[in-house]
Amino acid sequence: MLESSHPDTLSLPDLPKTLVLIGMMGAGKSTIGRHVAERLGVPFKDADREIEDAAGRTIEEIFAEFGEAHFRSGERRVIARLLEEEPFVLATGGGAYIDPETRALIAERAISVWLRADLDLLWARVSRRANRPLLKTENPRETLAGLIDARYPVYAEADIIVDSEDIAKDAMAVHVIAAVTDYLKANPQP
Ligand code: S3P
Repeated sequence: MLESSHPDTLSLPDLPKTLVLIGMMGAGKSTIGRHVAERLGVPFKDADREIEDAAGRTIEEIFAEFGEAHFRSGERRVIARLLEEEPFVLATGGGAYIDPETRALIAERAISVWLRADLDLLWARVSRRANRPLLKTENPRETLAGLIDARYPVYAEADIIVDSEDIAKDAMAVHVIAAVTDYLKANPQP
C-alpha cells in the first residue's frame, strides 16, 4: 500500500504506472494532480513546466517565437522522457493527448485520466487569466467551445473519465483516486 499523511486515504494498490491527467485548459489537471500525488505519496510533475524548463522559455514565448508545431514536438519529447521514470502523477497541457504519437505513448506506458468539464466551468476558470496562447482570439469563449467539440471525442479514449466539478480540489482528488482504484481492480496490471 502507498503511504500517505492523510488518515482518510483510499486504499490503492502500489501505483503500477504513471497517472497522466488529460483534459482541457481549466479542467484542474495541475491542481488536482498535485493533491492526487500527495495522497498517493508519489512525485507530481507538470508537463508544461517541464517543457518551459527544457526550452528556457515560457509556453507563451515558445508559441510566439516558434509556433504551435514546434511546441508540440517539444511536448512530445518531454512527455516521452517523463514516461520513462518510475510511476508518478503527470499533468499534461490540454493539447498533449490530441497529438497521435503522444496519445499512443500514454496508452502504452501510463494510465490516462480525463478530467471532463463543461464549457461554463472551463470558461469561468480560463477567463481569469490571459496566458493561454490558443485563446488569444477575438472570441476566446467560442474558441474554447470549438476546442471542446474537436477534442472531446479524442479525450474519450482515456482509460478513466472523471467529471470535474466545482468542489474543493482535494475532494476532486479523492474522486480521481477512487476511479483509479476501481480501474485497477477491473484491469489488473501485469
Ligand atoms: C494548451 C494548453 C496549455 C498549454 C498550451 C496549449 C492546449 O496547458 O499546454 O497553452 O493546447 O490546450 P493547460 O491545459 O495546462 O492550460
